[in-house]
Amino acid sequence: MTEYATLTINGQTIELPIIEGTEGERAVDIRRLRAETGYISFDPGFANTGSCKSTITYMDGEKGILRYRGIPIEELAEHSSFVETSYLLINGELPTRDQLNRTSVQLNDHSLVHEDMQNFYQNFPRASHPMGILSAMVNALRSFYPELLYTDEGFEDTFLRLLSKVRTMAAMAHKISRGHKVEYPRPDYTYCANFLHMMFNTPVKPYIARKELVKALNVFWILHADHEQNCSTSVVRSVGSARTNIYASLSAGVSALWGALHGGANQAVIQMLTDIHEQGVSVKDVVRRAKDKNDPFRLMGFGHRVYKTYDPRARILKKYVDEVLDRLKLQDPLLNIALELEEVALSDSYFVDYNLYPNVDFYSGILLKAMQIPTNMFTVMFAIGRLPGWIAQWQENLIDPEQRLTRPRQIYIGSNTRPYIPIDERQKA
Ligand code: CMC
Repeated sequence: MTEYATLTINGQTIELPIIEGTEGERAVDIRRLRAETGYISFDPGFANTGSCKSTITYMDGEKGILRYRGIPIEELAEHSSFVETSYLLINGELPTRDQLNRTSVQLNDHSLVHEDMQNFYQNFPRASHPMGILSAMVNALRSFYPELLYTDEGFEDTFLRLLSKVRTMAAMAHKISRGHKVEYPRPDYTYCANFLHMMFNTPVKPYIARKELVKALNVFWILHADHEQNCSTSVVRSVGSARTNIYASLSAGVSALWGALHGGANQAVIQMLTDIHEQGVSVKDVVRRAKDKNDPFRLMGFGHRVYKTYDPRARILKKYVDEVLDRLKLQDPLLNIALELEEVALSDSYFVDYNLYPNVDFYSGILLKAMQIPTNMFTVMFAIGRLPGWIAQWQENLIDPEQRLTRPRQIYIGSNTRPYIPIDERQKA
């Protein structure tokens, strides 16, 4: 039986239905609000607004829970591969062995990119940020590959093509930025091993990916694969709601992810730790700056819109960072600074009171650094990982009959009507 919330505005009372999710999350359905009262809701940043019903990812920010299609992130990180998790996100179920083998074969078949695309890369200025290049190139894919309607046979191919080619394109961007020959994918390598091969193999120094790194990369991408209605995913859904093709929708997602408050935080964390290391600033001073309301500086890698406890992804990643550094016998002074920073911040009343805990980006930079991924490629790494989530959410949005063109309203606070003044009659400011 439907429950209702009662709202009284200006003496008028309306009943608004309550919607409940499978994990007991409750929402007030305000779809009739404006039509019946003339009022709209006001919620900048949409922190209290559910924009869709979704079957893909469940998060509980208070308890630090994250599940894809019901499966806990901890279990996926331990047992799954990035390809299998991508299949799960996009198709809703874990694949059978046959389905997984077929997916791997198709990913391999799609792994080359059109040779003409290399010309684009060559013409970007050397100092271009790889996220800008990636966003442009994902959009450019639409010019090389057909736009299929969702109902067309072969549409699934588009998803696999994107998963495979974006990985190749990211490695290509790195090679070209270094002035090196592009390395082609190998059919005998797995998805993650192939990425490391394309990034680091050279004709004069063959690269054999260590299995610890391949496992760590699988885990890194699994942890980033989806995170329900975050900034870039909401962008992908919004753009897709206009029935824009998937390439352009994902390209917009890449642009949103680039920002320092979102995916760009992993690069910002390493920058912050490097500054502390090189400039000899004390961790206490950094924490003091982060608390100073007159200083725009924030502790990068801390805080999250949804998590009000330790980000479960950060917990898992920290374990792999320790393991990789240990196995590779690497020592990274930035890790020690990160640990000290974490300890100081977690015991500081400001961070405790604001529920600011380390998020996934706090440790991801250290792991990527251990893999020798250049700092300006960190957010690209996040983007490759987030692809299956964006694809699954774009697809869900498209087939959901309740979804409409994204078009929020606003409260206008500008001037009231005033006349146009001809230029010669305008007062000088
Ligand atoms: N350092 C210092 N103060 C902070 C921080 C921080 N990292 N994060 C939030 N605060 C304070 C903020 O100053 C504000 O204080 P007040 O209410 O007194 O003005 C309060 O906490 C709430 O902050 P907010 O920006 O309104 O909260 P939000 O939910 O909009 O922001 C966030 C979430 C992730 C943007 C923010 O915590 C932040 O800027 N963190 C640093 C950047 C970062 O690590 N981003 C990666 C997020 S995880 C990866 C992803 O999913 O994209």
